[in-house]
Amino acid sequence: MDKKIIVTGDRPTGRLHIGHYFGSLQNRVKLQDEYKSYILVADVQALTDNFNNPEKVRKNVREVVMDYLSVGIDPKKTTIYIQSMIPEVAELTVYYSNLVTISRLERNPTVKTEIAQKKDIFGESVTYGFLGYPVSQAADITALEGELVPVGEDQLPLIEQTREIVRKFNSIYGEILKEPEAVLSTQKRIKGLDGNEKMGKSLGNAIYLSDDEEVVNKKVMGALTDPGRIKKDDPGNPNICMVSYYHNLFSSKEEVEAVCEECKAGKRGCVACKKQLAKNINKMLEPIREKRKYYEEHPELVDKILEEGTKEARNKAKETMKKVKKAMKLDYFEQ
Ligand code: TRP
Repeated sequence: MDKKIIVTGDRPTGRLHIGHYFGSLQNRVKLQDEYKSYILVADVQALTDNFNNPEKVRKNVREVVMDYLSVGIDPKKTTIYIQSMIPEVAELTVYYSNLVTISRLERNPTVKTEIAQKKDIFGESVTYGFLGYPVSQAADITALEGELVPVGEDQLPLIEQTREIVRKFNSIYGEILKEPEAVLSTQKRIKGLDGNEKMGKSLGNAIYLSDDEEVVNKKVMGALTDPGRIKKDDPGNPNICMVSYYHNLFSSKEEVEAVCEECKAGKRGCVACKKQLAKNINKMLEPIREKRKYYEEHPELVDKILEEGTKEARNKAKETMKKVKKAMKLDYFEQ
């Protein structure tokens, strides 16, 4: 039997951090053995809210790909490609745009939240391109006949939008497109060093996969701890401490238990606890850094992976396009 197809991706707007690692990258590495995986670097989508900063988008395409490779996404198993280099996706987006109303896009909860957050870019009126990015995302997924889309919770409304477009298309033009399903990562979104619900670039509370040892040490030293604990021998409350929160992700069960007991008894100071955490984070990041360094020193390899991946994804998208055009009676010289 053929393997099921997975399509997923990221906007190249910055390097990836440990939130991405626990939230999606780890899962993708696992899934690539079992499924045919495509990962797109969504530069077109990144431009919808960074149209005035093309340099940033371009630079981050390779950064994101190096992050993928360094955590173990294997180009032999996963096809990594650049969204803008698949013109069929742009073409599909145009056809799909007839199948979705403006008010439906405006009601999309993810889009709605983002528009509210991006007043500095859009002012009072959002662009046509940004409002329509869910349509382009539907094209990303369906062009490759994606069946499963592993994403975080915030992406669910986008997958739902894709499913609606697919059903509408199929009901009008015939059963051509596959209706994808979202696969939610089992790991919840991880919090920032400052205790914020979200770890994010713009929030300045992230540990990047490419941070070096010194940077990690410094960031961990600045992490939020129990604010009620002033002196070293005050009893602490690990439940309101980000250091304990990360110990749970990076340290062994025994270590977590020991650290929490000693904290609650006022026997272990925050500095010692942070040092131990930083050591464990660095231990986990070390092999990732090493692999990343290799790719940083061999940019031609990264380019080759992207070029081959893009070629393969494009071939697949061309096949889909052919079926779509036939169904839509746009196959003029093909009979
Ligand atoms: N919207 C996704 C994000 O912001 C990126 C993305 C673009 C994507 N196209 C996709 C995700 C297709 C899954 C499938 O992270």
